[in-house]
Amino acid sequence: MNFSQSIWYDDIAQQVMVIDQRKLPFIEESIALTTLDETCYAIKDMIVRGAPLIGVTAAYGMYIAAKTRVNLTVAYHQLLDTRPTAINLKWALDIQMELARVTNENNLTESLLANAHKIREEDIEMGSQIGDHGLKLIKAIYAKTNQPVNILTHCNAGWLATVKWGTATAPIYKAHQADIPLHVWVDETRPRNQGANLTAWELNKAGIPFHVITDNAGGHLMQHGKVDMVLVGSDRTTAAGDVCNKIGTYLKALAAHANNIPFYAALPVSTIDWTIKDGLKEIPIEERNAEEVTHLNTFEKSQIRKSLIMLKNTPVANYAFDVTPAQYVTGIITEKGICEASEEGLRKLYY
Ligand code: MRU
Repeated sequence: MNFSQSIWYDDIAQQVMVIDQRKLPFIEESIALTTLDETCYAIKDMIVRGAPLIGVTAAYGMYIAAKTRVNLTVAYHQLLDTRPTAINLKWALDIQMELARVTNENNLTESLLANAHKIREEDIEMGSQIGDHGLKLIKAIYAKTNQPVNILTHCNAGWLATVKWGTATAPIYKAHQADIPLHVWVDETRPRNQGANLTAWELNKAGIPFHVITDNAGGHLMQHGKVDMVLVGSDRTTAAGDVCNKIGTYLKALAAHANNIPFYAALPVSTIDWTIKDGLKEIPIEERNAEEVTHLNTFEKSQIRKSLIMLKNTPVANYAFDVTPAQYVTGIITEKGICEASEEGLRKLYY
């Protein structure tokens, strides 16, 4: 399989298709989403993941619900309950609900499908624009150092987390296309290893030099001048510029701050939650099951296995996200441009 997009519509089978990200990098497999329950399960069990992709999948979920004659209000809430932190989920569901409100019953299914296609296309365009804006920052570092630009990233904010370009990886892909020499430090990102399993898979396919590092290595690399810039995504961004991303992002921001290294968050404006300002108090942090921590996916004899890495029934707390306050964010890269991580910065950009 030679995948280049994370979600697509198969016109012949008339089905929504996604890559099963739980199996990467070992097995490259796609699956069809045919019912609302399958779509909810795909988001909850992280067959699809990453804030923008969760939003696009939910948009298709509303189409699938209409096609299979499920009440759209029920579908809206069932999809909304799948993952609490990424605001793109609600953003996409609200767009589809509003369309349903003003659309004639006879055209509803086709209209929801067309709108899901539109949200998907816009996501591709958004990633490309984030890439173009972020490229300027990478170019500026290269112009100063004339050395390969070392970028540290956390989790997977790559094309697998969106439809095509990614958010944090979009400037990296654009810089690679522009022949700027790069090297990426990829945090493995326990417990689900999105860095080691997904970002490394993406960069490897793109031919971009990288090393996977343990989650605790970033601070050491920063102290020794081996990181020029930290570039991460965001699942929810407050109106005041706090960013919420995969657990461990905050520690990278602190280390970057202490070492005078720029820390940028790349995100589509659909990730901004204008209704909240204080990320620490107001963003719901997803807590996931203990098995993600107690077990590790291993690949043996062509099979993915779950291996226990600590005593069974070890008490575990599994917080999936953390908040980086705006004061530690050097800037926010969006499809509309780069701005200061502040209410003023975001509003200027937005309006
Ligand atoms: O739990 P996940 O894998 O959905 O978390 C994904 C992230 O934290 C990404 O960095 C975030 O969604 C930004 S995506 C472009």
